[in-house]
Amino acid sequence: MNIDGKPTRSIWPSEGAVEIIDQTRLPHEFVVRRLETLEDAAEAIQVMRVRGAPLIGATAAYGLTLAARDDPGEAALRGAAAVLIATRPTAVNLQWALRRMLARLLPLPAEQRLAAAWGEAALICEEDVAQNQAIGRHGLGLIRAMAERKTGPVNLLTHCNAGWLATVDWGTALAPIYAAVAAGIELHVWVDETRPRNQGASLTAWELGKHGVPHTVIADNAGGHLLQHGRVDLAIVGTDRTAANGDVCNKIGTYLKALAAFDNGVPFYVAAPGPSIDFALESGKDIPIEERGAEEVIKIAGLDDAGRVVTVQLTPTGSPAANPAFDITPARLVTGIITERGVCAASRDGLAGLFPERAERT
Ligand code: MRU
Repeated sequence: MNIDGKPTRSIWPSEGAVEIIDQTRLPHEFVVRRLETLEDAAEAIQVMRVRGAPLIGATAAYGLTLAARDDPGEAALRGAAAVLIATRPTAVNLQWALRRMLARLLPLPAEQRLAAAWGEAALICEEDVAQNQAIGRHGLGLIRAMAERKTGPVNLLTHCNAGWLATVDWGTALAPIYAAVAAGIELHVWVDETRPRNQGASLTAWELGKHGVPHTVIADNAGGHLLQHGRVDLAIVGTDRTAANGDVCNKIGTYLKALAAFDNGVPFYVAAPGPSIDFALESGKDIPIEERGAEEVIKIAGLDDAGRVVTVQLTPTGSPAANPAFDITPARLVTGIITERGVCAASRDGLAGLFPERAERT
């Protein structure tokens, strides 16, 4: 998508290495960081320089490629995959991408693996872009239908960042929004700040602003009030893993928004590219929920009056903090799932109808 009119992706290969936008520095600084080694890639995923389920998968694919540059042997590649898998447990795209890379590389003679790895990682990225564009087209229909039913802008609500920064390009939940803007539909996006890491306030607001999309950042606690007062027409969020029965795992706080949307009869959609659907899991209760460090809750970064980025402590010294990073929204609260193959019910039948070849194998 565009940064000040310049088309930009979140990750790209560069002269034998990989470059990323360091998302820990946004929104106040735009820093491109070079990943040279497996360890660089693992660190970038773990500390969330890259984040968002599809981008985690793409970075892991390139991480394995960087490992193959040093040693393309089977033991080394399996070891590298284990290092990458250990970085973050919830987004299924990580395991999906690594399984796919190993399945492509290991049958080949060792001397052919590095070239094949660059090719497969690039293919994973291109497929992600195509999937997200298709999600955009399908989601556009929902926004268009809402625009035709009302006067004034369509008011959307989103949580966390499921935009182009969370993918290779376009985003998942934000792809329909970009498509609707391109189609000339008048809209406005309520952006949940998304404590504790503030992906909404820092990343979604930044990318919407750079693309010229009208938006307003709200404190996480404001969503229920806005939903209750008819100020949200449609909610669209992303997902890190959706179980076979349509239960959706996404950034912590998604469940509360889904509850409030359900209570107020506001449609609540989840944008889920195929690689984020885990047909091996019967329901959301089996999805591992990442517990991150307490310091993410205790401290917050921002600009001081002199324009310097500073980190300050929010909580009393000594107060413990807990940091579950994701929650499960039961399928019954989800109006529909927007995939690259169309929109379906959040149910076993709905997902199996769109992905019969994957549902049958499990
Ligand atoms: O912890 P994060 O920032 O990686 O969490 C990201 C989300 O929860 C997104 O909504 C999800 O990965 C979908 S991204 C298209």
